[in-house]
Order: sequence, then C-alpha cells, then structure tokens
Amino acid sequence: MADTAANSQVNLIKAGLEDAVVSTSEICFIDGHKGRLLYRGFDVDDLAAQSTFEETVYLLWHGHLPTKKELAAHVKALSATASRRLPSKLIAMLRQFPKKTTPMEILRTGVSALSAFDPDADDNSREATLRKSVRLTAQLPTLVAAWERIRRGRPPVAPNPKLNLAANFLYMMTGKKPTPLAAKTFDVALILHADHEFNASTFAARVTAATLSDVHSAVVSGIGALKGPLHGGANEQVMLMVDKIKDPAKAEGWIKKAMADKARLMGFGHRVYRVEDPRAKHLRRLATELGEQIDNLSYVEILNTVAKAVTAEKHIYPNVDLYSGAAYRAMGISTDQFTPIFAMSRVAGWTAHVLEQHGNNRLIRPRSEYIGATEARYVPLSER
Ligand code: ACO
Repeated sequence: MADTAANSQVNLIKAGLEDAVVSTSEICFIDGHKGRLLYRGFDVDDLAAQSTFEETVYLLWHGHLPTKKELAAHVKALSATASRRLPSKLIAMLRQFPKKTTPMEILRTGVSALSAFDPDADDNSREATLRKSVRLTAQLPTLVAAWERIRRGRPPVAPNPKLNLAANFLYMMTGKKPTPLAAKTFDVALILHADHEFNASTFAARVTAATLSDVHSAVVSGIGALKGPLHGGANEQVMLMVDKIKDPAKAEGWIKKAMADKARLMGFGHRVYRVEDPRAKHLRRLATELGEQIDNLSYVEILNTVAKAVTAEKHIYPNVDLYSGAAYRAMGISTDQFTPIFAMSRVAGWTAHVLEQHGNNRLIRPRSEYIGATEARYVPLSER
C-alpha cells in the first residue's frame, strides 16, 4: 500500500467531482432542486416557447439577446452555404469509411478533419474563434446528414440557405422539406440541448480549451465525452429499451423486472437535478404531438408507463434523454443519429464555453490521491 501521507496536501473530494465547483461562469445556471435551467439568465422554458435555436446560439455566445439587426446578420452567417457546406475532399473521405461506421464516430473524425480546411485554424483570437464557431455550428448538421445519405448509398443533399438550421437539417437528411410541426419541434429540441453548465462534455471541452488549444480540438473532446451512454449516448439507449419493450401493455412488467435486476435505467437520474429535468416535459409534449401526427403514440405510452413506475419506486426522475428519441423517431430519424443530433445543438454551448475559458484562462489541472506502490524495485527482465 502506498503512503498516502505523501499526498497529504491533496484535499479529497467526492467521487466523480460531485458538487465540486471548478470555475465561475456566466453562461448557464441549474437549480437542481427547483428544476430550473437558465441560459444567460433566461429561463429555458421561455426560450423554448419564444426563441429560435439561432437566437439562442447568439445569446450563449454574446451574453445578450440580439437586436433585429444583430440577429439578421447572425442568421445570415449561420445559413450561408459558405458556412454550411463541407469541403469536397471531406465528402470524398466520408465515402471511404466502412458503412457500418457509427454516426458518432463520423462526427468525431469529421470535426477533427474540418479544422484542416478551416481558414482560421491557427488563430485562437476571440474573433477567429467566433468565426470558427459559426462554421462548426453550421457544418455539424451537414456532416451528420451527409453520412446518413452516404451510408445508405445515396448522394448528400446540398444545404438550402433559405431554411433555418433545424429545417435545413431535416431537409438534408431526407431531400424533402419537413412539415412545419417537425421543423418547429426540431428547433425547440435544439434550444433545449444547447447548454447545460459543467456537464461532462462541456467540462472536457473546457479542459482542452484551457491548454490554449483551439475550438475544433475542444469540440472533438466534447463529442468524445458526449458519446458515452451515461451522458448523451443515453438517448439512443432509451429507444433501444423501447424497442425491446415493443408493446405499451408490457411496459410496466418489463421495467419492474429491470428495476428488480438493478439495471441502470437510461433516461433517468441526474447528477444535479433532484426533480424532473425541466427539459423533459417539453420533449414529452413534442414527442406526443409528433406521435399524434403520425398516428403512433406507442413510444410515448411506453415511456410514460416506464417513467411512472421508475419515479414511484426509485424516486429518480426523467432527464433530457428520456423523450427526445421518441420525437426524433417520429420524424423518421435513425436511432444512432440521436446522439449526433444532441452534439449539433450542444456545439453552441461548447463553443460558448471555449470563448469564456479563453477570455479568462488558467490551465485546468486537478490532482489525484495516489494509492499505488511507492517502493517498487526494478527487476531486470531476465530475472522475472
Ligand atoms: N438507473 C438506476 N439507478 C440509478 C440511476 C439510473 N438511471 N441513476 C441513479 N441511480 C442510482 C444509483 O444506482 C445509485 O444508487 P446507490 O447509491 O444505491 O448505489 C444512486 O442512484 C446514485 O447514482 P450515481 O450513478 O452515483 O449518480 P451519478 O450522479 O454519478 O449519475 C447519471 C448520474 C450518470 C446520469 C445516472 O443517473 C445514470 O446513469 N443515468 C442513466 C444514464 C442517463 O440517462 N444519462 C443521461 C444523463 S443526462 C445527460 O447527460 C445528457
């Protein structure tokens, strides 16, 4: 056993950095007991009801709601074909990947590759990082949609600068303009996922940015952290659970058995919220509206039954990932695209946090408490 006294200067905190405050921030506030989420002081409920994803991105980056003129310029920059299109060499690269490559792997690799084509790649000034953030936010939907088309042996659809980010994404996925309900639902889903304080992926992005690395590298770090099933990857796992349950009449029995087996229940629980995640109610409503439109409410019915049973028995509540997949599924989107869609929205938060980190930077470098050996004697290979 190691002499832990050697590390006595290290103050141990709770596992998983629970409750540790690692920095100040002006971007996002969560009240985990009241179930409130604020972006720059604005309640996400108000933003979901009244804002657009584009306006929310502006708010996160600049700290205030835009004037009409500011919003028009911002929307124009985000919608421009020059911002949204992918370099043809990147499209050619995508065609080389095995078709079984998951969309999250493509996103992680594609964002990394995009920096090689970015004219501001070497410039970490605030102005250049903002320009790169515009391009990243505009390019991620094109990348996600292009891979969906390529893996199905179809040509990518060019972005339409007349459509907002949400509608354009759905258009690039299918080649057809989405219904107004689908476009609006998708826009609200993007608003709801745009930022969430120091969650795992944002923290990963900030750690990367704090070495004075660039915004593409920070976003790649964020994507890597988001991919795991304890974080953004949970939205895919939820729908895999729904597919196993299949029939709303079987949902209660299925989830009771899962709880008895002590399974980890995807879409439930949260490090910060002690009540229902405020985003879940919006996504439940949107999934229900879309389910009614396609005349299939079975996903929502299964999830409602599961939520009731889990809340009653375990006192853990739905998080953002419980209902989003049911809404995306109703739009015909493949299950393994749900987490990339999360990233398409969260890139707004990651980039806002990179800007904030670079604005007042100090290297993020915590300690560990060493509990390994301290007196090991090297034995030559011939003697082992
Ligand atoms: N299913 C079953 N038990 C759970 C769950 C869950 N979803 N969430 C918490 N618990 C239980 C744990 O078993 C543990 O019980 P114990 O103290 O008796 O051992 C207790 O609650 C605390 O759980 P931890 O995992 O230590 O809580 P932590 O804060 O580390 O985890 C997390 C938070 C990872 C989100 C967890 O709730 C979880 O795994 N949820 C399922 C995955 C998920 O939905 N992730 C998405 C979160 S939202 C987002 O990232 C976008």
